Amino acid sequence: MMETKLLELPFQDAQRVFNRLYYQRGGKHARDFQTSASSGTALPFAEAENFHSHLSQLASSSSLPYSIRILELGPGNGSSAARFLNRLLALDKKSGTNFYPRIEYILADFSYQMLDSARENKLLRRHMKKLTFTQCDAESLRFSEGDFLLVRANELLDDLPTQILTRDGGRFFEVRLALHLDPKTPITRKNGSHLPRREFARLASHGSRELSQIDGKFVKHLSLEVSRKPAHPDITAAFFIMDAFKDFPENALIPVPFAASSAILSLKSLLHPKGRIDFFDYGFNSLQELEEVQSAIFRTPGALAAFVNFPYLIRAAKLAGFSNTMIEPQQKFAPKARKLEHGYHLRIER
Ligand SMILES: C[S@@+](CC[C@H](N)C(=O)[O-])C[C@H]1O[C@@H](n2cnc3c(N)ncnc32)[C@H](O)[C@@H]1O
Repeated sequence: MMETKLLELPFQDAQRVFNRLYYQRGGKHARDFQTSASSGTALPFAEAENFHSHLSQLASSSSLPYSIRILELGPGNGSSAARFLNRLLALDKKSGTNFYPRIEYILADFSYQMLDSARENKLLRRHMKKLTFTQCDAESLRFSEGDFLLVRANELLDDLPTQILTRDGGRFFEVRLALHLDPKTPITRKNGSHLPRREFARLASHGSRELSQIDGKFVKHLSLEVSRKPAHPDITAAFFIMDAFKDFPENALIPVPFAASSAILSLKSLLHPKGRIDFFDYGFNSLQELEEVQSAIFRTPGALAAFVNFPYLIRAAKLAGFSNTMIEPQQKFAPKARKLEHGYHLRIER
């Protein structure tokens, strides 16, 4: 089938448009994206155990606030939240700590449809009184109340808009994506009305809020064409990359996680002084690993995702004034039989 070009955008803008449409199809498509980490119990159980011992330490030094506020970003269909809370409740009962009644758990996702799926998730039913569902874009985190003791997310960072930069012969380029769709596939609004392609291109190129009115079904039929154009690297980004890799590597596609680093910056004022951020995701933590993952540095099917540049995020967190940052392989949170390559745990504390 002949396809026509809808529009062309820098990678990070294409990601913003594509992922919004992709996730507004809701949790009924969870098989496409629900991560293996959250469909099993190993990761949420390990997180709950770790957090329970953190709470116990704070309690024994009388520094535990009354409300135990937890924020999960990009919760998907809510199964990971349910397993995390199940485990926390079980530990609470076993050790008589009585933390559970003090918990307030906020699920924040940019997709209303995903939040509806989480609301309807039977696994979450027993915890309903503890839960708040909030529509919120990780690119502009705003909460009337902060003081979170824990912010957790699994495989959100790789979905957030990321510039893909490369240096070739001393000149800089960025990856762009053209979105193509065969002319017979319609683009419709959620109310069923037809949306002319030119109008879609206009909304997408402005990253308009009206994109949320579009039925995301057609996104599965998009094909993506990669090109590159000269670009000027952001000076802070260039410093972080040069500091991380001792130089600016030539001919490597380097993800620059602008949206993830600004989310980390916004979380600074939302964390309780004893609070922590636990992010789990796929990415690289050295120049050698960056080179190893080049062929899949960005990818579909599924959401449009890019491997996470962890050395960059560590530097951004330090610059934002966080006192403690730590990165470790995620393998220790996975079942022993499962080999987990390129999975990392990023912990950030105030
Ligand atoms: C790959 S899914 C992971 C879902 C779940 N954490 C899991 O592990 O199965 C990514 C989730 O992040 C949400 N998401 C993606 N981009 C987002 C953004 N900019 N702001 C808020 N949520 C976002 C998606 O709607 C989806 O729920």
